[in-house]
Amino acid sequence: MKNILIIFAFVISGTSFAKDYKFELGKQLFFDKVLSGNKNISCATCHHPKLGTGDNLPLSVGEGGSGLGSYRRLGDNLDGVKPLVPRNAPPLFNLGIIKDFPLFHDGRIEFNDSYPSGIKSPAGHLLPEGLESSLAAQALFPVTSHVEMAGQEGDNKIADFAAKEDFKGVWKEVTKRVQNLNGYVEQFRATYSEIKTKEDIGIHHIGNAIGHFEDKAFRSVDSPYDRYLKGQYWSLNMEAMRGMSLFYGKAQCYTCHYGKFQTDGKFHSLALPHVGPGKDKGVDGKEDFGRELVTKNKKDRYKFRTPSLRNVALTGPWGHNGAYSDLRDIVHHHIDPETALLNFNSTHLNGDVVTEENIPFVGDHSINKMLLASNDLPKVELSEEEMDNIIEFLHALTDLKPMGFKKLIPLSVPSGLSLED
Ligand code: HEC
Ligand code: HEC
Repeated sequence: MKNILIIFAFVISGTSFAKDYKFELGKQLFFDKVLSGNKNISCATCHHPKLGTGDNLPLSVGEGGSGLGSYRRLGDNLDGVKPLVPRNAPPLFNLGIIKDFPLFHDGRIEFNDSYPSGIKSPAGHLLPEGLESSLAAQALFPVTSHVEMAGQEGDNKIADFAAKEDFKGVWKEVTKRVQNLNGYVEQFRATYSEIKTKEDIGIHHIGNAIGHFEDKAFRSVDSPYDRYLKGQYWSLNMEAMRGMSLFYGKAQCYTCHYGKFQTDGKFHSLALPHVGPGKDKGVDGKEDFGRELVTKNKKDRYKFRTPSLRNVALTGPWGHNGAYSDLRDIVHHHIDPETALLNFNSTHLNGDVVTEENIPFVGDHSINKMLLASNDLPKVELSEEEMDNIIEFLHALTDLKPMGFKKLIPLSVPSGLSLED
């Protein structure tokens, strides 16, 4: 009997360690530059596991740049091209498990039953069916952006379709690249029973594998705060406990950052300063109207999605445009947006890819007035000590061990392209 039990336990533990082919496939795709038009950038360049699933920069440097994180530099081929991505690369923690959470800072990927795929996105009805999650859907878009991954018109076929905003054309070319690599075809066959030959591989399979990898790799729910919720009250120190009471009380953070993941999934304006080239709107096309770009409703101007605060201590710079490189400064901005906005200057920015000329409206009275008029934050007064406590609580939302880099970073990818940036 004892032997049978041992064998049984062995079989069970064996199955739980069975190879997750889809995870391995998604990981390779996430790190493979072959998905980018000029084969010079991968998802991991801007969402690196070693950089809190971001890039450590206020604004991402897209294709054509070189280096990783703070060492990343702009490329020199900048004729008429906006060199910076207009927004901060958000972290990828827990995106697969926060219920009904819209993706992107302006929520342009969201669940909506009136679309055949069940998901509303910039591709409208062109989004393929068979996508398993919002992460899977999201993964189809970086390749369509000429700044992020596609490259400039004339550079390559993917870029040419991207320039015409022909999503289907881009996806077909990206799929072809993957179909033509034997190393991938084998893995797709092992992952999906419906795939027999390379022609059976579709863009939705690629999205689903990447989405599965992101979901599993970046789940992060074992912070001191989680342990506290499970009844291990000693997991939080006194300062963090006080910070938690303030967060869910007097400081009113919970009105937007509520629930287990500290987000309402809705859109609010914090009147953050404009940083970066903008999203082709407003004064000189240099403003970012945020949620209004999706809803076309003026009331949504300057509103951005409430982010989850899990691992927030690891994911700076903060804000949709990385305006603040110090966690305390963005919290301070929440408490007193007017003073913070009027005193904003380039010393708040991390590194030197974002220069003075990328913060064109600092000190512009009429723009500041519009930003402050949109502010949704409640009026709160906190002492320095109370601020310290809140910061301590934010640190208690850190779970450092999502998986360990060894499991998250491949040694090589089927294209044979370099994993260095
Ligand atoms: C050049 C840098 C860059 C590359 C390359 C890149 N991303 Fe991103 N990613 C960003 C930025 C910037 C945003 C936010 C854009 C916005 O909100 O408009 C973003 C948003 C996201 C989001 C939404 C996160 C959230 O909180 O809503 C996910 C998921 C994501 N990227 C995954 C990927 C995947 C998968 C790839 C590869 C197929 C990829 N990214 C390639 C910079 C990049
Ligand atoms: C009115 C809703 C609202 C309230 C109240 C609120 N926040 Fe926020 N918070 C947001 C939104 C929206 C963002 C993202 C804004 C952006 O990027 O433009 C944000 C961003 C943040 C960030 C940066 C996260 C990141 O990944 O960049 C931190 C940290 C933060 N909030 C902490 C707090 C704390 C602490 C409090 C309480 C003192 C608080 N928030 C109160 C809505 C709110």
